[in-house]
Amino acid sequence: MIVTIDGPAGSGKSTAAKLLAEKLGFFHLDTGAIYRSIAYIAKKKGILWDNEEGVADIAGSLDIDFRVENGTRKVYANGEDVTELIRLPEISTGSSDVAKLKKVREALVDVQRRFAESRNIVAEGRDMGTVIFPYADIKFYLDASIEIRAKRRQLELRLKGIEADFDKVLEDARKRDLQDSKRDVAPLRMAEDAILINTDNIGIDEMVELLYAEVKKRWK
Ligand code: DC
Repeated sequence: MIVTIDGPAGSGKSTAAKLLAEKLGFFHLDTGAIYRSIAYIAKKKGILWDNEEGVADIAGSLDIDFRVENGTRKVYANGEDVTELIRLPEISTGSSDVAKLKKVREALVDVQRRFAESRNIVAEGRDMGTVIFPYADIKFYLDASIEIRAKRRQLELRLKGIEADFDKVLEDARKRDLQDSKRDVAPLRMAEDAILINTDNIGIDEMVELLYAEVKKRWK
C-alpha cells in the first residue's frame, strides 16, 4: 500500500508521516531528505546549486539510506550520517534550489519509486501524489497558514539550539514556498484526488488519528 503526504514546509507533514508510518508499521520515505542530501553533497564538493549537470550527477549516483539506530531515525548519504547536517537553514535553501532542476528530479524518480517495491510505505514530499506515486492508494495534502508554519520552523530550530529571528524565518518560508510552487518541474500542488487537511488548529495526535482513520477505511 502507498500512502502519500504532500504539503509545504511546516505543514506538519514530516511529523505526521513519521508517526503515521510507525502506527501502521509502514516504511517512512522522507523525500525532502533526499533533496537535502544532494544539496549538502554539492556544497561539500564545491558544486554550485544551480549547476544542473553537476548536481544531476550527484543525484544519479546518490546512495541514500534510511536507518533506525537505537530507536532514532538516521539518514545516510553516500555512507555518511547526514541526519543533522541536512537540517541546517543553509541546506534548506540549497535543497529548494536543487529541487528546481529538471535533470535532478528525473534522476530521482526511480530512486524514490524503488522504496515502494514490495513494501508498504508512507511517502512524504511535494510531488508524491502528483508525479512519483500518482497511483497511490491514498493521498493527503497538509496545509497551514504561513505564520503558523514559520512559528513551527522557529520552534524546531530553537529545539536544536538555533535562535532564529521570526521575520527572517517567515521571509525564508515565503521565498521557499514561492520557489517550490512556481517552478516548472513538479511544482508543489495538491493532487486532484488528495484529501486536504488544514493543520492550523489541530494538534499532532489528532492529525495522526485523522490520517490513520482514513487509511484504515481503505486497508483491510
Ligand atoms: O520537506 P523538506 O523541507 O525537507 O524539503 C526540502 C526541499 O526539497 C524543499 O524546499 C522542497 C524540496 N522537495 C521537493 O521539491 N520535492 C519533494 N518531493 C520533497 C522535497
